Amino acid sequence: MKVLVIGNGGREHALAWKLKESKSVDKIYMARGNGGTEDFCENLDIDPTDIEKLLAFAVENKIDLTVVGPEDPLCAGIVDAFNEKGLRVFGPNKACARFEKSKEFTKIFLEKYSIPTAKYKSFESYDHAEKGLEEFSYPLVVKADGLCFGKGVIICRDRDEAVDALEKIFKDKIFGDQGNTVVIEEFLTGEEASVLCLVSNNKLFPLERAKDHKQIFDGDKGPNTGGVGTYSPVSASPKLEKNLEKIYKQIEDGLNKEGLHYSGILFVGFMIEDDMPKVLEFNVRFGDPETEVLMPRLDVDLYELLNKTIDGKLERDDIRWKDETCLTVIMCSGGYPGSYEKGKLIEGLDKVDKDIIVFHNGTKKTDDLYTNGGRVLSITALGKNLEEARKKAYDNVERISFEGAYYRKDIGSK
Ligand code: AMP
Ligand code: GLY
Repeated sequence: MKVLVIGNGGREHALAWKLKESKSVDKIYMARGNGGTEDFCENLDIDPTDIEKLLAFAVENKIDLTVVGPEDPLCAGIVDAFNEKGLRVFGPNKACARFEKSKEFTKIFLEKYSIPTAKYKSFESYDHAEKGLEEFSYPLVVKADGLCFGKGVIICRDRDEAVDALEKIFKDKIFGDQGNTVVIEEFLTGEEASVLCLVSNNKLFPLERAKDHKQIFDGDKGPNTGGVGTYSPVSASPKLEKNLEKIYKQIEDGLNKEGLHYSGILFVGFMIEDDMPKVLEFNVRFGDPETEVLMPRLDVDLYELLNKTIDGKLERDDIRWKDETCLTVIMCSGGYPGSYEKGKLIEGLDKVDKDIIVFHNGTKKTDDLYTNGGRVLSITALGKNLEEARKKAYDNVERISFEGAYYRKDIGSK
């Protein structure tokens, strides 16, 4: 079978790596892939957002399954376009991708189906939003409604900061049209947790949990990133499990009542305090770097799993996990998530232990391997417990180098 994976990052590298293991998969194309996927896939010179070209390629090459990594093509309707041509594609359709495309859409859904979430109001003008601030206490959260590459959320400690955030979004248009609507939200405290659910015919199948590390510096300090390290599994108390189950049922109920047909991944971001989870956000795709630790632990054929999901035939027993812990440390370019330089020579990958998996987030191969993004490499280790996985990953991180390389030293050490 021929598979096309859309995307350039560590998430897509991990998906392709796992698909490659499948006895059914003969060939994997990546659009565009990176320096790491080049070793076992054919990287295509097609942008992940160029739906027309992707579709033409898939038709011409009789692709059996397309797996969409990033949110942009999903929100733009790539699944609908592929389905119209009778092509199999993994991911939600355009109507369902609104859960990531619009924060307001998600908040309305959560409220309508009584799913616990932060209190909120949405606004379409600076004046209304500025007045609306009165209804909230501080800190509060200002969010641009649309897709902002993970930068659309601003936590404001006082009124000055909130007014500043509203000015930047409504007047300076820092997020362009993605900021035409703004959601103001109560600030939640607690522990963040993300749960990726396979959704088959509107039924949610939660995958094992992964703990992301979003801030750039040790001790969860500094600005938010896409995620710079993660591990899986993460344990939960029976009470928390029960509360999460209730939320999954409410989501399923809501999808059915709204007449939506969800298929693919629903990534639910939670804030959890005293075992009470509240939904922070929905994403309609696999998480990055969550996927980098889930794929090595997954103990079933990913190609079959994705196909069963698409066919609406998935069952709980279809999803099995290795009884090992997986941890990944992301080596970043110096300066990330602010500005950083690309094109630094990467050395030392030949010194890495055989049982370490290095997923590439942002690399480019010419004669040698060079950095090509803010997140560069995910150094991933399986171990019999968290300590072992952590030690193996960090032992190997130290063997890899490039100018300005930075990584957190405390992934999994809490
Ligand atoms: P989101 O894109 O909505 O997940 O927001 C990105 C990050 O902002 C989350 O991972 C949280 O760390 C933080 N955040 C978002 N909403 C809230 C909230 N209501 N209270 C506290 N932190 C939040
Ligand atoms: N790691 C968070 C995300 O993929 O959105």
